[in-house]
Parts: sequence; C-alpha cells; structure tokens
Amino acid sequence: MKSLALNLKLYLAGAVLTISGLTAGQVWAETITGSAHDFSGRTYTGGQICVTCHTPHRSDVSVTDAPLWNHENTVEVYTVYDSPSLDATVSQPGGASKLCLSCHDGSIAVDSFGGTQSAGNTEFLIGPKAVGADGLNNDHPISFTYDSTLASTDGALFDPSVKTVTIGSGAKTKTGTIAEVMLSNGNLQCSSCHDVHNNFTYAQTGSRLLKVTDAGSAICLTCHDK
Ligand code: HEC
Ligand code: HEC
Ligand code: HEC
Ligand code: HEC
Repeated sequence: MKSLALNLKLYLAGAVLTISGLTAGQVWAETITGSAHDFSGRTYTGGQICVTCHTPHRSDVSVTDAPLWNHENTVEVYTVYDSPSLDATVSQPGGASKLCLSCHDGSIAVDSFGGTQSAGNTEFLIGPKAVGADGLNNDHPISFTYDSTLASTDGALFDPSVKTVTIGSGAKTKTGTIAEVMLSNGNLQCSSCHDVHNNFTYAQTGSRLLKVTDAGSAICLTCHDK
C-alpha cells in the first residue's frame, strides 16, 4: 500500500510536469507532441519524445514485429475475453497489444526503458488508464485474427478485406480497408482503435487517440454490421 501511494505521488508529479510544460496554443493535432504519449517534459527522457518506446540501435526484438522497441515488456499472463457467442480465437496478447500493455497493465513503469531499465522505476499507470491491470476478460477482445472467414461465421461483422474506412482528421487522414488501416498482420490489436502517436485520430483534442469517433458509436459500426 505504501509503495502504491508512493507510485501515485510520483506519477502525479510527472503528470503535473507535462501539463506545466505546455504553452498556450500548443499544437495537439496530428502529432504526438503534446499528446498523452509525449513524455518529453519528464526528467527521465532528457527532453526526448521517442526514447521511452523506441531506439535506433540494439532494440528489444523479443516481441514479434516490435518496432525498434526500447521499453521493458510485461510478463503478465492474462485472463482473456470469452463469451458463448464469441467466434474468434483469442490468444494471450502479442504484437502491438503486448507493447501497449507494457505500460497499460500497470506492472511495468513508464520510465522503465533503455535496455538496462536503469532509467528509473517510478511512474506506474493506475486506475482506468491501466486497462489490463484487472485482466483482459472485461475488455474488448484483442490479439486475434479478424478475416473474411470470421466475418462470415459471425454473420454481423463487415469483411475486413472489403469494407473501407477513413481514419484521422484534418491534414492527416488515411482511407483503406479495415485490414489496411486498422489491423496489424490481419490481427485486431489495441492499435486497431487507437493511434499511439496521435497522428490519425478523429479530432484535434480529446479523441482519446481514437482513429474513428465514438459519437453515434461510429467506431463500433465500422466493423460491426449491427
Ligand atoms: C508511448 C510509446 C511510443 C512513443 C513515445 C512513440 N512510439 Fe512509435 N510506436 C509505438 C508502438 C506501440 C508502435 C507499434 C504499433 C503501431 O504501429 O501502432 C509504434 C510504431 C512506430 C513506427 C512504425 C509504424 C508507423 O506508425 O509508421 C514508427 C515509424 C514509429 N513508431 C516512430 C516513432 C517516432 C519517430 C516517435 C517519436 C516522435 C515515436 N514513434 C514515439 C509506441 C510509441
Ligand atoms: C511507455 C508507456 C506507454 C506505452 C508503451 C503506451 N502507453 Fe498509452 N499512455 C501512457 C501514459 C503514461 C498515458 C497518460 C495517462 C494519463 O494521462 O493519465 C497514456 C495514455 C493513453 C491513452 C489515453 C489518451 C487520452 O487522451 O486520454 C490511450 C487511449 C492510450 N494511452 C493507448 C495506448 C495504446 C493503444 C498503446 C499501444 C499501441 C499505448 N497506449 C502504449 C503510457 C504508455
Ligand atoms: C474496439 C476498439 C478498442 C480496442 C481494441 C481498444 N480500445 Fe481502448 N478505448 C476504446 C474506446 C472507444 C475508448 C473510450 C471509451 C472508454 O474510455 O471506455 C477507449 C479508452 C481507452 C483508454 C482511456 C481510458 C480512460 O478512462 O481514460 C485507454 C488508456 C485505452 N483505451 C487503452 C487501450 C489498450 C491498452 C488497449 C489494448 C489492450 C485498447 N485500449 C484496446 C476503444 C478500444
Ligand atoms: C476493428 C474492428 C472492430 C471495432 C472498431 C470494434 N469491434 Fe467489437 N469486435 C470485433 C471483432 C472482429 C470481434 C470478434 C467477434 C466474434 O468473434 O464473435 C468483436 C467482438 C466484440 C464483442 C464480443 C462479442 C461476443 O460474441 O462476445 C462485443 C460486445 C463488441 N465487439 C462490441 C464492440 C463495441 C461496443 C465497439 C465500439 C466501442 C466495438 N466492438 C468496436 C471488431 C471490432
């Protein structure tokens, strides 16, 4: 309990630093700068943005398809989503989802990066932002193949290789099939709904990094033919 309180205090201290690091009129649109994933205001990044997650050299290749990864990875084993009507075969999180959960399950510190993880071990996600902390059985399923076969088995899903969608807003938009702009190697991951870099998000502020708006549940109706 004591360490939880300490983590919370340090985490909040970090958050305050970021907020005070913003200047009036700072651009939030279509860029990671100033977004929830801009940790350049924290002392442990030395003013850098990408370093918490990426490195140009000697990256961690233990997660398949990890992009020049620099962050310590979670080793949690989760209870995954299941239900009597679920058709998909959901596995333990891999790919981008595993990378997200390496901060968003609350088990690994945001400032645990750089190979030796010597940068620090102080800032842990807690509360609603730690989506994986209480297992994944109460979250939208992730890390499974979403293809034409699944769509026809389910009967009320769009075929991801046929249905087109536009993600983003303003100067940065991308149009393609669900498979092209939302899936990763044919898999549904956290990054299907969220853009970690705040590039292709539906609004300039307050989008919660969502690629498509949730107004009218548009994001849900992108894939679900309900
Ligand atoms: C909070 C962690 C985080 C930060 C900070 C971050 N990235 Fe990423 N990046 C990811 C994750 C996770 C992926 C893989 C998932 C994806 O592509 O959506 C990724 C993928 C990428 C890719 C390959 C896919 C693509 O989007 O083109 C590039 C290039 C990239 N990042 C560049 C950068 C650069 C440059 C910065 C700094 C300006 C940066 N990232 C900051 C987490 C991060
Ligand atoms: C290096 C740690 C780290 C990684 C990796 C990471 N995040 Fe985050 N994420 C954070 C932190 C810290 C916050 C800010 C929490 C806060 O402000 O309370 C955050 C915030 C968010 C938010 C809320 C944004 C908002 O505007 O409210 C979303 C959504 C999110 N992350 C999704 C993702 C997804 C999806 C991935 C993987 C593709 C990912 N994150 C990878 C640390 C990380
Ligand atoms: C099917 C789409 C979808 C997937 C997949 C998805 N999310 Fe989300 N996420 C949303 C929506 C919609 C919201 C906003 C509504 C809400 O907060 O419940 C959200 C909210 C969030 C928030 C902000 C929570 C808050 O209360 O501030 C975080 C953090 C987040 N997601 C992280 C993740 C991570 C990590 C994964 C993968 C383990 C993931 N999401 C997978 C759709 C998705
Ligand atoms: C990128 C595509 C995509 C998006 C966006 C998406 N879903 Fe899904 N969702 C799926 C797929 C594919 C499944 C797996 C369906 C199956 O196998 O039965 C699924 C599963 C589900 C399930 C579980 C179904 C069951 O039988 O247990 C629910 C409920 C659900 N989604 C609701 C939502 C809601 C609500 C949203 C919006 C917040 C949303 N989805 C956004 C693709 C998506």
